[in-house]
Amino acid sequence: MSPRYAHITGWGMAIPEKIVTNHDLEKMVDTNDEWIISRTGIRERRIASDGQSTATLAAEAGLRALEVANLRPADLDLIIVSTSSPEYLFPATACLVQDQIGAVKAGAFDLSAACTGFVYALNLAAQAIRSHSIENALVIGSETLSRLVNWKDRNTCILFGDGAGAFVLQASEEVGGVLSAVMRSDGSGGELLVVPAGGSRHLTSLQTVYEGQHYIQMNGREVFRFATRVMSQATQEAVAAANLKMEDIQWIIPHQANQRIIEAAARNLEFPMERVIVNLDRYGNTSTASIPLAVCEAIQDGRLKPGDRVVMVAFGAGLTWGSVLTQWTGPFPTRRKVRPKRVRFWARLRSLLRRLRRRLDGLLWGRGGTA
Ligand code: UT7
Repeated sequence: MSPRYAHITGWGMAIPEKIVTNHDLEKMVDTNDEWIISRTGIRERRIASDGQSTATLAAEAGLRALEVANLRPADLDLIIVSTSSPEYLFPATACLVQDQIGAVKAGAFDLSAACTGFVYALNLAAQAIRSHSIENALVIGSETLSRLVNWKDRNTCILFGDGAGAFVLQASEEVGGVLSAVMRSDGSGGELLVVPAGGSRHLTSLQTVYEGQHYIQMNGREVFRFATRVMSQATQEAVAAANLKMEDIQWIIPHQANQRIIEAAARNLEFPMERVIVNLDRYGNTSTASIPLAVCEAIQDGRLKPGDRVVMVAFGAGLTWGSVLTQWTGPFPTRRKVRPKRVRFWARLRSLLRRLRRRLDGLLWGRGGTA
């Protein structure tokens, strides 16, 4: 088999309209704009409205990425949604996205690696393409962490925001795309950043709700120390794995958690901050969505260009950390035009018809047809 590469040919983002500024937070908890900016770099974040959810944001970002790549949902073989705020324990949010966009021949699953999830998902989709197992993949990072945040806890509520970002990956024999990756974990630090209740270990009960165990709990200082250590390490490892040097890298796109963590990583790497993409001031920490959101903005404002070598590097709960080195590609030439509105219309119709058929089948076979 000839060697194959996984190229990023489409990208898209979806962010809620509602903005919550640091001044808004001053009215909710004992904090202030100056403290939040100096300790984190965050000025405002987006918060999902009632009608928005992890799946709707993911589908919106995914469709935009397909539009850029000019790839139809029906051409997708795989959808991975990386998220820590899935719609349900199951079914996977990725399956809801599959239905919303009408990706009729795609496998779909969620990936849970917290803020590192997008980097893991990108690597897994790239490896599936490189091994000739699939042709086209949609990788999405989507979060509505605002729903898991305790809005009375100033340690966490100032940090997080909602949003989604997506990449389309496509196979090609041209050298480029995802060149190397690093995936690491250390479960001994699991309790440092955790939502204690709601899973099978501590089922939701009146007691867990009363104690606020269904909200994010974090030891910020410990996570900070861990993050500053691993960000530069993982970057160097991905660069070495691709037989490159730091001088060969044009951009670092880090997980957008804290300006001080990002600056510390750049300092350790002796990498200029002008070539590090940062947008956390406007979105806060959107967890697994933060890297694709930053990538989309860097493309929109003309910084990131085809041919550039980029390291995306992240850390998060688990503990997990990882990086992906990619040579930026851009859309493959094609004359096909993908129109998201039309795609959505047919996907809705298809979903409706499938539900109807299931109901009719149920009635015919005497099972009541509720599925
Ligand atoms: O995607 C991964 C998600 N998690 C992270 O990235 C978290 C990484 N950690 C951090 O970003 C930082 O640790 C924080 C931003 C969370 C906190 O910054 P810090 O410089 O580590 O502050 P600290 O926790 O050491 O707290 C310093 C002081 C404390 O007061 P005392 O004990 O010194 O009197 C806190 O109670 O600041 C206080 N404090 C606040 N003050 C105003 C904590 N939160 C706030 C707040 N407003 N929101």
